Amino acid sequence: MNEARIALVTGANKGIGYAIAAGLGARGHRVGVGARDEARREDAVGKLRAAGVDAFGVALDVTSRSSVAEAAELVESEAGRLDVLVNNAGVPGEMGPGWDQDPTTLDLDVVRAVVETNVLGVIQVTNAMLPLLRRSASPRVVNISSSVGSLTLQADPNIDIGPVMAAYAPSKTYLNAVTVQYARRLAGTGILINAACPGLVATDFTGFHGPRTPEQGAATAIRLATLPDGGPSGSFFDDNGTIPW
Ligand SMILES: NC(=O)c1ccc[n+]([C@@H]2O[C@H](COP(=O)([O-])OP(=O)(O)OC[C@H]3O[C@@H](n4cnc5c(N)ncnc54)[C@H](OP(=O)(O)O)[C@@H]3O)[C@@H](O)[C@H]2O)c1
Repeated sequence: MNEARIALVTGANKGIGYAIAAGLGARGHRVGVGARDEARREDAVGKLRAAGVDAFGVALDVTSRSSVAEAAELVESEAGRLDVLVNNAGVPGEMGPGWDQDPTTLDLDVVRAVVETNVLGVIQVTNAMLPLLRRSASPRVVNISSSVGSLTLQADPNIDIGPVMAAYAPSKTYLNAVTVQYARRLAGTGILINAACPGLVATDFTGFHGPRTPEQGAATAIRLATLPDGGPSGSFFDDNGTIPW
């Protein structure tokens, strides 16, 4: 029997997360639409179903321990296991007028809020879903990162990596580092975990600035979510291949 693979995408009600959910659905996955707002979640589930995707809603605020635990229970009762987890939910944090975050004047509450969602949220969701992922024949975890989290690119004065961003960019560096630790810990289990950069995508996140569509931004995540057994783990990719740490 060729059973559908089960995926959960966090922050799937809009933007890149929605495009990942749609793309995985189009590839035959049954997709859990993780979203914290009920109306936005149900709207997204409705749109996905209208497009022929086997979608179900998963109430999920990645920063809430109880919400994450309830989401894992819901996925277990809906599907009994999880084959693909895409940790997509993310926030930029408050920005200055040049869409920057100046380290010399940074409000620590901005840092806390960004790390809470972009890093701690990913750890919290991943650990809650791990028992369900371990029931999959070919489990995959994709963490949506960003090339602005690359220390190599940030430290190269010859590369234009955008404005100074002292909360958001390091949150993705931290996420990348955590991804490597998971890959080390899960080596040999069959669980492949990688980080993906979507490129600069026109979404709410960027004030709809950026040359790429959400569908283009979703492509690398979909590739990593559908890696064959024995594929890479603990790496950082965009459409062009690996990104330096
Ligand atoms: N856009 C880009 O150019 C770009 C570039 C590199 C990386 N990324 C990364 O790509 C990911 C998606 O970004 P996007 O551009 O698609 O942004 P977006 O359109 O603003 O979508 C962000 C999603 O995350 C959700 N979210 C935020 N906090 C959450 C929480 N605590 N619990 C659950 N969901 C939460 C949002 O839900 P609500 O609707 O409820 O707010 C929304 O669904 C992020 O991780 C971002 O860092 C984006």
